[in-house]
Amino acid sequence: MSITGIKGMNDILPGEVETWQFLESTARRVFALHGFSEIRVPVVEKTELFQRSIGETTDIVEKEMYTFVDKGGTSLTLRPEGTASVMRAFIEHKMHAADPVAKLYYLGPMFRYERPQKGRYRQFHQIGVEAVGVDDPRIDAQILAMLSQFFDEIDLGEVELQINSLGCPECRPAYRRQLVAFLEARLGDLCDDCRRRFTSNPLRVLDCKAAGCREATLDAPAMLDHLCGGCEQHFAATRAYLDDLGTPYAVNRRMVRGLDYYTRTTFEMLTANLGAQNAVAAGGRYDGLVRELGGPALPGIGFAMGVERLALLMGDKDRISPPPALFIAALGEAAQRRAFVLMHQLQRQGLRVEIDYQGRSLKAQMRRADKLAAPLVLIIGENELAQGVGQLRLMADSSQREIALEGLHEAVVAELTKLSGAGQGA
Ligand code: HAM
Repeated sequence: MSITGIKGMNDILPGEVETWQFLESTARRVFALHGFSEIRVPVVEKTELFQRSIGETTDIVEKEMYTFVDKGGTSLTLRPEGTASVMRAFIEHKMHAADPVAKLYYLGPMFRYERPQKGRYRQFHQIGVEAVGVDDPRIDAQILAMLSQFFDEIDLGEVELQINSLGCPECRPAYRRQLVAFLEARLGDLCDDCRRRFTSNPLRVLDCKAAGCREATLDAPAMLDHLCGGCEQHFAATRAYLDDLGTPYAVNRRMVRGLDYYTRTTFEMLTANLGAQNAVAAGGRYDGLVRELGGPALPGIGFAMGVERLALLMGDKDRISPPPALFIAALGEAAQRRAFVLMHQLQRQGLRVEIDYQGRSLKAQMRRADKLAAPLVLIIGENELAQGVGQLRLMADSSQREIALEGLHEAVVAELTKLSGAGQGA
């Protein structure tokens, strides 16, 4: 029996990977415009890192982590998200000493043991950014505007940016008490999960998708009405800056997040086209996290986008790899050897070239060239080879002319230039 991949972990095949590359290169370009640099961190960390940052009572830490003990007896976890790892690296390398503001981005796989379904996987990929060291709400607005710019550039269609504030350690405890009192009176209407959350993580009840819970919490108090002066000002300023920048958003007073480190601004980019997995990107501020992880008291804010979800939404946008510029069809052993060398030389000169590896008939080789969509085919047989020439065939109109193998690169480039000129004129 053949061995299959792991449930919820996908192969990204040629034909799909081009969309991924487009998303990644667009992200790199947009993030660079805003002064972000890439950071690469390991996919495995000490389990404690995620327990301490994401929170012991979150679904991720309680149920979804891929945790194992290595041969040295250390408990390790495949990262379920990127923020904790990036903050660990930030602190470990004392990045704040070199620059008080760090703007970082990362791309890579994350792992959560969730129930797989469309848009939800056990290995998934995030493109994320983190900005550490800036309190000013302008960075909140800039990050949201950058997220919006990315979505405009990939031209995904309808998405909505929703924002909220989750307050801070000064104002959240009082709000939490009010919410607990509100929920206590309605415990009977809540689902089993929410009754458990009621004691461990009551804010998460607001996030429950169960109809009963949603109804029971329709009039629940909102954090936004209980912000302290500082948080209120921060939220108002963030909104004002977003308005200045013309970045559209909606306030969602019920938004809570599945990770405990958030403070103040939180946000999600939502789509109506992915069923239950409607968040294509999400993030927020985490002003206490760096300190909590043993670093200096520095604020931070960031987001992560789910690449699988973006790719699903992009659909088939015909983003295939470019075809070869030239296919060399060779007949006979000597011609095949020459074709192999010519291919190599042209590739070193920057052209995409393909040959046939199976010594097939000219007809079969032409079929292959056609399948690869090569615009030009160089045909060489024993006779041509003896004269140092080949037949250059234009696939578009099947015209053919003899050219010298000497100076082949120039001849092919000239032909391609003519072709692209003709293409543009059409
Ligand atoms: P998160 O909301 O857990 O936040 O994940 C961010 C995004 O990752 C989601 O909006 C979704 O697009 C994608 N995602 C999450 N889980 C899965 C899954 N099982 N399958 C497919 N896609 C998924 C974070 O991870 C935070 N670290 C974001 C952040 C960065 N906050 C501040 N900085």
